[in-house]
Amino acid sequence: MVDRLLQHCHDIGAPTLTNIRRTSDSVLFDFDGNLEQLLPLRMFSTLSVVLDESEHAWIDGFADALAELEQSTKSGAIGALSGPPAYRVDRIEGREPFMETISTKLGWENDPKAWDVNIAEHGPFLLADVGAMHRSRRYAKLRRIPASVNPLVGSLLVQLAKPEADDTVYDPFCGSGTLLTEVAAIGRGAGLLGTDISPTALEVARLNLSAVDTPHLLAQARAETLPLPEHSVDRIISNMPFGKRVGSHHANSRLYPRFLAELTRVLNPKGRAVLLTEDKRLFQQAVQETSGIRVIKEVQVTSGGLHPTAYTIEHTQKSRRTDHHRKRLSEG
Ligand SMILES: C[S@@+](CC[C@H](N)C(=O)[O-])C[C@H]1O[C@@H](n2cnc3c(N)ncnc32)[C@H](O)[C@@H]1O
Repeated sequence: MVDRLLQHCHDIGAPTLTNIRRTSDSVLFDFDGNLEQLLPLRMFSTLSVVLDESEHAWIDGFADALAELEQSTKSGAIGALSGPPAYRVDRIEGREPFMETISTKLGWENDPKAWDVNIAEHGPFLLADVGAMHRSRRYAKLRRIPASVNPLVGSLLVQLAKPEADDTVYDPFCGSGTLLTEVAAIGRGAGLLGTDISPTALEVARLNLSAVDTPHLLAQARAETLPLPEHSVDRIISNMPFGKRVGSHHANSRLYPRFLAELTRVLNPKGRAVLLTEDKRLFQQAVQETSGIRVIKEVQVTSGGLHPTAYTIEHTQKSRRTDHHRKRLSEG
């Protein structure tokens, strides 16, 4: 995901973003502009101002860090917040005098519970996280269920599926609807469909999608028997029960083959599906045993201590040709 974020930063590029470089889990850049220009970069959770790049910011009494805070307040990301921000400082060496200086010199209020700016170490960096740019506050409030997918992973799945503006997009294990809201948020999909076995999850999905303009339909259904006609959807995007926190490997060994047979039936022959699972061997075996579909891409993701894989699936050439012939015969 960091690679993708890096690529998206390069796409924006100069003069807005310069000096773009990556670390193991972040992308750094010099930025000159309105923060709204960063909103299309959906694959970051937190935006932070780098206050110091050494591990010993406290040695000079945080002088460099303080200068960066002042600079950012005058003409940078912190200045985009309304009014003097409330702040908190993590448990870092020399914290007390640093806080004293921030409060007296900058006039900021220390509020560890409702902060706008959070000062914390991250690897070798001392950072000021800008709360208003956190994923949970950049977009509409996203309600969650215990099995909800991390929204950044959700963005990745949606990007892999490449939905077009006029596509019908379907999530057959929609849970709280995270993936469908992401499709709507990037302006894709003419219609959104979500089904799930759980009425509680569907209630949450209804709330999340109530703020979405794209026409959408949510219904209770089992993924083994999808309530949709043949070839009726252009994109299927889903994170399936992994068999760990949701379901079991045993349940998946029945569910996956049946669901994949249904996917083959309802997916438009030119369509594409992206499915995330941790139950990989079972999934791959089930795809091999399902006639008419194949995996064209695999992307491994690291999230919440798990390493699931996103599989991109399409109809096989043979299946597309057979369908084409069938269509011509029926037209003839
Ligand atoms: C990993 S969660 C999906 C989370 C969702 N993407 C979100 O962000 O909230 C898997 C979902 O599959 C649903 N589920 C489990 N077995 C199912 C089945 N046989 N048919 C349909 N849905 C099922 C669960 O109720 C759960 O909501």
